[in-house]
Amino acid sequence: MTDVKVRILVADDEWTAREMMQSVLLSQGYEVETAEDGAQAIAMLEERSFDLVITDLKMPNVDGIGVLEHIEGSKSGVIGIIATGFGTVESAVQAMKTGAYDYLTKPFHVDEIKHVVSKALEFRELRRENVQLKRQIKSSSKIDQIVGRHPTIKRLKELIRTVADSDSTILILGPSGTGKELVARALHSLSDRGDKPLIPVNCGAIPEDLLESELFGHVKGAFTGAVNDRQGRFALADGGTIFLDEIGDMSPSLQVKVLRVLQEQEFEPVGATKTVRVDVRVIAATNRDLEQDVAEGRFREDLFYRLNVIPLHLPSLTDRIEDLPLLVDHFVKVFNRTKGRRITHFTPACLAQLQRYPWPGNVRELENLVERMAILHQEGEIDLAHLPDRFVPGGVPLAAEGAMGALAAVPSLDEGAIDLNRVVGEFEYRLIRQALDLCGGVKNQAAQRLGIKRTTLVEKLKKYERLFQTEEALTSVG
Ligand SMILES: Nc1ncnc2c1ncn2[C@@H]1O[C@H](COP(=O)(O)OP(=O)(O)OP(=O)(O)O)[C@@H](O)[C@H]1O
Ligand SMILES: [Mg+2]
Repeated sequence: MTDVKVRILVADDEWTAREMMQSVLLSQGYEVETAEDGAQAIAMLEERSFDLVITDLKMPNVDGIGVLEHIEGSKSGVIGIIATGFGTVESAVQAMKTGAYDYLTKPFHVDEIKHVVSKALEFRELRRENVQLKRQIKSSSKIDQIVGRHPTIKRLKELIRTVADSDSTILILGPSGTGKELVARALHSLSDRGDKPLIPVNCGAIPEDLLESELFGHVKGAFTGAVNDRQGRFALADGGTIFLDEIGDMSPSLQVKVLRVLQEQEFEPVGATKTVRVDVRVIAATNRDLEQDVAEGRFREDLFYRLNVIPLHLPSLTDRIEDLPLLVDHFVKVFNRTKGRRITHFTPACLAQLQRYPWPGNVRELENLVERMAILHQEGEIDLAHLPDRFVPGGVPLAAEGAMGALAAVPSLDEGAIDLNRVVGEFEYRLIRQALDLCGGVKNQAAQRLGIKRTTLVEKLKKYERLFQTEEALTSVG
């Protein structure tokens, strides 16, 4: 950055003022270009990048305020300085309101020019550093959310850092629940598009006939129900990133259109004749074996190769099962925070047992388990006995199991229709009564045992007592 020359644009309709300003700035080692009026200045600003613009206030065509407004609107980060004739302080004030950093009064003084310019450049540098720092803080926290020390995860994180800032397409591959979306978000936030939107589209969840308009937008009247023009996700992602999740589920006709955006960065909204150009980075993900899909003709080969420029493979949880304790620890912290719990840890026996489970749902399944434990148990350690049955094949002597077994008279649907609300209600009521029995009728303790608030317990108890006890009374009378 330091050896790149600072570029300054001087806009003034007076030849002598331009010359004077230019020679002073050149002597300071800056690169200088000049414009003779506001319109020319704006045209140059659109074409090339500058660090600083010094613009005269009164100029033909577009005046200095117009130039400042253009700078403000363009969000290019150029700093504007306004030059005014002596005695037009009011205009200078207006200029400052329009976003000028400072002003210079005519006739110019060499020292004043040097001083104001160097101050403006210092400000610009500070602002730039600030933006970078903010981005670093934000993005490093995003990549830190990817928990794991297994070599595959370490390599993955390195790769993410390396490729994030390139604009190339990235294909994230891995089984369900392995963190593909997490990786997509980290990539986006580490890229220089991090401040722009990341627009996710779940291609598998949107019905095929809607997906095209969802992606590319449509014009009014394009199909029944298209009562207005509507922007698609590609247009919304302009300047940023689009995340095409479950791309393996996309129909071949849409695959062609996506290929075109990848190659030409352009598309037509549904029903439109006009082409839209966008600057979008594409990150795609799938849990399918795309190569297999290509071989079997379900996925276009050309799109596959275009997407597969940089593939990132995510391991299943069992392939990095050594990371399980770390992940459990991470999720315990997360749910303690978000659910106001004080779970201390999962016991070593419990962790060892969990490391033997096959984890078909990968990290998502593990996250759900920890969440469930945090909901059911307020605090303390989580042990084998707390785990749901499926994690403990063969069974552990669960303290509550006998009682639970007796309770769980789940009706079979083969025997006809049931009233779900009623069955669930009965089940809940029996558990509440059991908890109350175990706690000698102390509602606070019973509520804790059930992982609900005391007020909730009281409410439910009232409701069910009304419902079931009157029925009991009626049947015993009858
Ligand atoms: N390495 C990890 N560290 C911390 N959390 C993770 C990790 N991997 C996944 N998760 C968490 O697991 C959950 C599932 O992750 P994510 O949604 O990214 O998976 P996915 O691969 O996109 O799954 P699917 O294919 O089902 O869409 C998320 O809540 C995510 O935060
Ligand atoms: Mg996902």
